[in-house]
Amino acid sequence: MRSTSDAMVRGDGCASGKPLLAVLEGHAVWPPPLWLMRQAGRYLPEYRALRAEVADFIELCTTPALAAEVTLQPIRRFGFDAAILFSDILMLPWALGHGLAFREGEGPVLPPLTDRAGVDRLDPARLAGAIAPILETVRRVRAGLVAEGFDRTALIGFAGAPFTVACYMVEGGGSKDFAATRTMAYAQPELFAALIERLTDATTAYLSAQIEAGAETVMLFDSWAGVLSPRLFRAHVIAPTAHIVASLRARFPGLKVIGFPRLAGGLLGEYAAATGVAAVGVDTATDPVLARRQVGPDVALQGNIDPLAVLAGGPALTAAVEEVLAVARDGRCIVNLGHGILPPTPLAHVAALVARVRAAGTA
Ligand code: CP3
Repeated sequence: MRSTSDAMVRGDGCASGKPLLAVLEGHAVWPPPLWLMRQAGRYLPEYRALRAEVADFIELCTTPALAAEVTLQPIRRFGFDAAILFSDILMLPWALGHGLAFREGEGPVLPPLTDRAGVDRLDPARLAGAIAPILETVRRVRAGLVAEGFDRTALIGFAGAPFTVACYMVEGGGSKDFAATRTMAYAQPELFAALIERLTDATTAYLSAQIEAGAETVMLFDSWAGVLSPRLFRAHVIAPTAHIVASLRARFPGLKVIGFPRLAGGLLGEYAAATGVAAVGVDTATDPVLARRQVGPDVALQGNIDPLAVLAGGPALTAAVEEVLAVARDGRCIVNLGHGILPPTPLAHVAALVARVRAAGTA
């Protein structure tokens, strides 16, 4: 029998020679490309050191020299196949004029959006000026990857998907179940649809600008998609995502989009088919074998090692990595976590994960 690796490319099969882009373009790639959600962040001592010098998280996101440096830190340490722009999903409402603060130990705090005036205050005319430093970060990272010899590392731009961003705006911050947001979607459907529509247009403009600045693919984080009923999931997750993907692909024909509808469960297949994404992020709770059955052979999978298994390390981590590698054997997977890496994760555990995935290429 022919070994898996004979039948697959190492990422050289696409024009860019970047394994992550090759998977998104439909090539089978082995060993699988690898990056981690929240790979730039508090588990890295070099991030904590830089963060300690900056008073405010928004200032970090809007200072291109610092944000570019932080984006590159995990690439230097672990050689991941993708760098993800260092920013936050809530920088979009901030750029539209909505208030935002990040409080130590409390997470994001926003003025709760409760009425039509709140939607009308979101000002698309502010966007270009406000995101200028973020676009400058994108340019610097692209140049930095070349300058530092990371020729095979792709640059991912991102935004929150409209529903998840709306969750934080309506609620005024994080929540266990985003009940106020879902109640608004039921009780004031026109108001909620207007909010989603405004965010959909702004997200399209924001991601277009990131692509023009040098992002090679973009990811839509819909972290709270799973709290919706199927009808609302179709209206506020699938429809806006499909709209954003279609608009971006009309403007940038070769563009591939990664969607992450976390906890979509039985609707993952419908999401993949109806939105036109090239890859779906698979959350920790979803069996990737079932995810593959749902999305079919043409959509890549990205995921889904449990961040807690990486925190635990040892046999738990080994087992979790082997499970994902077994699915990735089809060459249509990007190895990642099922959600963001946790701040107390030991660096040695991340190193072990990386080493095992890289060694798969010689197995
Ligand atoms: O490395 C990367 O992944 C790139 C940067 C990135 C951040 N946030 C940096 C960040 C990305 C892609 C995000 C996405 C994000 N932000 C999501 C979607 C993914 C997910 O985790 O579900 C969401 C829901 C947010 C909103 C957000 N930002 C919260 C709830 C918090 C506070 C909780 C926390 O994890 O700290 C943030 C702050 C934040 N965003 C930090 C970082 C590194 C920590 C801030 C600090 O360093 O002080």
